[in-house]
Amino acid sequence: MKLLMPGAAGLRLPPSSNSPKTRPTLKIRQREVNSQHILNSAVTPFTPLMSSDRRHSRDLKEFLMNGSSKSLLRIDSSIRDENSVSRQVANTFEAAWRAENPAGPVHQRELGLTPLPYLTELEHTAMFVPVEYRTPEHVTAQARAAVLADELFEADVVLLTAPLYNLGIPACLKTYLDHVFTDIRLFPGYGITQPLAGRTVVMVSARGGAYGPGMPLEGFDHAEPYLRRQFVDLLGCELEEILIDLTMAAVNPKLAHLTDVADTSLAKAHVRAEQLARGLGDAIAS
Ligand SMILES: Cc1cc2nc3c(=O)[nH]c(=O)nc-3n(C[C@H](O)[C@H](O)[C@H](O)COP(=O)(O)O)c2cc1C
Repeated sequence: MKLLMPGAAGLRLPPSSNSPKTRPTLKIRQREVNSQHILNSAVTPFTPLMSSDRRHSRDLKEFLMNGSSKSLLRIDSSIRDENSVSRQVANTFEAAWRAENPAGPVHQRELGLTPLPYLTELEHTAMFVPVEYRTPEHVTAQARAAVLADELFEADVVLLTAPLYNLGIPACLKTYLDHVFTDIRLFPGYGITQPLAGRTVVMVSARGGAYGPGMPLEGFDHAEPYLRRQFVDLLGCELEEILIDLTMAAVNPKLAHLTDVADTSLAKAHVRAEQLARGLGDAIAS
């Protein structure tokens, strides 16, 4: 089987530099690489090209038909349902967002309750297999990645709930990112190209302990910097964070004396969620 890996003949790869001077050129080159590869690669009903040009024409059409409706993609990754604090705060954001954008579509990608399967080698390498060599499994894998990537390209705002699990992100969220990055448009192996620039991610992270400045566990939360690297530095999104501390105070006797601090953190999170939803609605409608 023939695999086309990054750097293979026929693919012009951009350098990894991301200085402001070189960034525009990189974007153009990346688009050439992506278009060329996708056109010569898997042709499935799920692999439409969602270039920024097409996105703009979609926005114009929506604007003419619906006024300033904007789309929201909500991604949930807590393994808990109604007891999830991150979901509850996200509910506050979503309700306020819907009130601000009654005509805007809201899509949901549920990861915590219905997780994607763990990424396999076949799925990881499928995008590099020339279309004539692809098995049905390769085609299915690429179709899945395209659906997930399309959801991100279609969104103006992504509402992401990401609880802290064992000092990192939930496994289901990592698996989701593993799949997403097998779509050639989002594949990070071609350098820092920021394919989702122009979109905002609102991240709601609930943490059992306290990780703020001066706390004994300051710096132990590896979920927040990881997601910042992915969504801001690599994908190019704006990031708004809602961090909730001490959600375990009510059930962990060692944290019982911090219940007031926990309550304040949660109350502030709901207020910020509502303000962000209204502010973001205003900001991107203008
Ligand atoms: C598998 C698992 C691992 C966790 N690991 C941590 C951790 O490392 N640090 C922490 O402060 N809280 C940890 N917690 C507690 C959660 O961060 C906390 O319960 C949070 O509120 C979960 O988000 P949710 O309320 O949206 O479900 C963990 C919880 C689970 C289920």
